[in-house]
Formats: sequence, structure tokens, C-alpha cells
Amino acid sequence: MPVEFLGIAATNDGSETVTRSGAAFDKEYTLRLARAHEDHGWDRVLFAYGSGSPDPAPAAAYVASRLERLQILLAHRPNVSYPTFAAKTFATLDRISDGRLTVHFITGGDDHEQRREGDTLTKDERYARTREYIQIVKRIWTTHEPFDHEGEHYRFHDFVSDVFPVQQPRPDVSFGGSSPAAYAAGGAEADVYCLWGEPLERTAEQIEAVRAAARAAGRTDAPRIQVAFRPIIAPTEELAWEKARRTVGAIRERREAGLVRHHRRRTGAPENTGSQRLIEIAGAGERYDRALWTATAAATGGAGNSNALVGTPETVAQALLDYYDLGVDILSARGYDLLGDAIDFGRHVIPIVREEVARRDAEQAARGSRTLTAVGE
Ligand SMILES: Cc1cc2nc3c(=O)[nH]c(=O)nc-3n(C[C@H](O)[C@H](O)[C@H](O)COP(=O)(O)O)c2cc1C
Repeated sequence: MPVEFLGIAATNDGSETVTRSGAAFDKEYTLRLARAHEDHGWDRVLFAYGSGSPDPAPAAAYVASRLERLQILLAHRPNVSYPTFAAKTFATLDRISDGRLTVHFITGGDDHEQRREGDTLTKDERYARTREYIQIVKRIWTTHEPFDHEGEHYRFHDFVSDVFPVQQPRPDVSFGGSSPAAYAAGGAEADVYCLWGEPLERTAEQIEAVRAAARAAGRTDAPRIQVAFRPIIAPTEELAWEKARRTVGAIRERREAGLVRHHRRRTGAPENTGSQRLIEIAGAGERYDRALWTATAAATGGAGNSNALVGTPETVAQALLDYYDLGVDILSARGYDLLGDAIDFGRHVIPIVREEVARRDAEQAARGSRTLTAVGE
């Protein structure tokens, strides 16, 4: 199976280590960063969602209309709109992008952040709502006759959309979360299940939980798996580790100075299981497997995609291949210097991984055809 690479579609140059140089929505930078991904071998970029951040849907439409190939992963929180409205936005965006849209449905891992936009449900209730929302969106994308819906969270009558996606039967649904309620909802509904990078053993455990939830929902297939990291690469191992230590120093300094913008409450432990897992893993050790480094996750309090892979491009590529061998289909990566790191990773890491994956796949196909020949003999 060919591997895919997901990068980040930030709307400004700010990161955990860099103070942004302009407005939250910097139109020129948004396009420059996306173009760097398109020009350097990436498949898709994530337009993330935060309560106060620029709306990712028009940003994605802007990028899609200016670039030819790059695919879009649009993060969307169900609490901010009605599913009939959202389904039309997505279908229109799939039209604008000529079929390059995937929607990442976000349940929300933090009550305080959810309340900022009027959402007062508990996390488990939110997951049930997300599930209903996804089911409605899928139905609207694929139904040409008016229908009624009587659900727990939504009720409407006689709705039919007049705009349908280019992708048939519909765009993919992407989903993230590491709690039992997340596995149950995403295992049932997602085409792509997203995880934050953890040690191989812990990732295998999550992949199995997702697959078990898909089986429990009566599916005969399973979601494709995506895993996200923060690569820190340099020409030698020594230089990469120096860069890693500088990076974590900059994160700590900026956090202590109160310069880091984040969606979570400023104090207290994270409420979402995914971040709790990252903190627990970081507490148990700083280095795992070939190149995983948890100091970046520890320094940010397990803020989302925060575990690093440190080393030369060859080392980081081999570490990513370990995840491919585990059953991961999509590798997500974001540096700390968003633009420069997207170019470096695209130039130096992506080609190695793609070549190795192609070699592994060819070997497997050859083994398969040898077995078939042996059976036929
Ligand atoms: C790859 C990935 C990307 C995510 N992007 C966003 C995002 O842009 N905005 C957001 O609020 N939450 C985002 N999340 C958070 C999840 O969608 C989810 O709300 C949270 O992790 C739930 O926590 P749980 O682990 O307790 O189930 C993302 C999660 C993953 C795995």
C-alpha cells in the first residue's frame, strides 16, 4: 500500500518556538506554506480548528483554488454549525478543489475550549453527537431525495442538498481521539483514524482498539490509520540532537514567558485522553524505539501532536517505516519552523520512505505471486 504524507496548513508562521510575524491570517504565508508542501512531495495538508483561529474552510478554499494537486484535510467541530449547512460547505469545497477534500471531524477534548463557542455537552455526549453528525453529513452527500431526520441531537424535515461532492460516493471522513468513546464513534464512522505519535507498542495498542471498535460496529473493513510526529532532522545525529535540545529550550522559554497561544486552559491537567497518554509516556521515559523523543511533548504538556522523531533524514525515515510496518497508512509531520521544515522533510525524508515502501510492497507482491504459483503447481 502506498504511504501518504500529511503536513500542516498554518495561516501564519507562528509555532511553539516562533512568535508569529504578522496577523493570524497571513494570506501570503498561507499560500507559500501550502505551495511548499505541494512542491516537495507531500500529499495533503491539515487545516486545523481552534475557537479563536481563522476559519479553516475559506482558507482551504483559497489554497485549493490556487494549487493544482495538494489535497485538503479540513478540521471541523460539529458544535459550530448545523450538519445540513456543513454538508453543503464540504460539498462546495470538494467542487472548488476538484475532489481533493477530506473532512476531519473534531469532537473537542477540552470543556473550557468547547464552551468558548457555546458547547456545554460533556465529552462523551459530544462523541455521540459527532457520530450522529457524521451520519447525517454522509447521508446528505449521497442522497438525492428529500429526507427527514429524527435523532438525539438533530431533527429536521424535507431536506435535500443541491450541491454534491466531486468524489463518489463521497469524500473521506477523518477522525481523532484516544478515549473509549472516541474509538467507538470513529471505529464506526471513520475512513481515516488519526493518532498522535506514541512509541510503537502503544501505537499498536491503539490501532487494535480502533480495529476492535470497527468490528464491534459491524464493519468488515477498518479505518486507515494516520500517525503524527514532530520531526527534528539535521545532517548528522549529533547536530539533530543539538537542534532537538535547542527546540525544547525554546519551547520552555516561550511557555514560561507566557508567549504560547494554545486552545487549552492555561492551568491544570489536560482532559483529553490523547494528551494524558502523551504525558504519561513522557513521564515513563524520554527516548523510545529508534528515534522517538518525548521531551517536546513533556514541555508542551502533551499539547496534541508533540512527540518528536530526532535524527538524520535516514534515521527518521527508518523510524517512520517502523510505523508503516505496524499498519500505519498516513504519516503526518510538522516541524517547528513550519516552512523550512516542510521543505527539508519533503526533500530529504519523504523520498526515502516512499522508495522503501515501494520496495517492501514489490517484495510482498513477489512473495504473494510465488505463493500463488506454488499453490497452482
Ligand atoms: C491528528 C489530529 C488532529 C486534530 N486536530 C484538532 C484540531 O484541529 N482542533 C481541535 O480542537 N482538536 C483537534 N484534535 C483533537 C481531537 O479531535 C479530539 O477532540 C480530542 O483528541 C479528544 O480527546 P480524547 O483523546 O479524550 O478522545 C485532533 C486530533 C488528532 C488526533
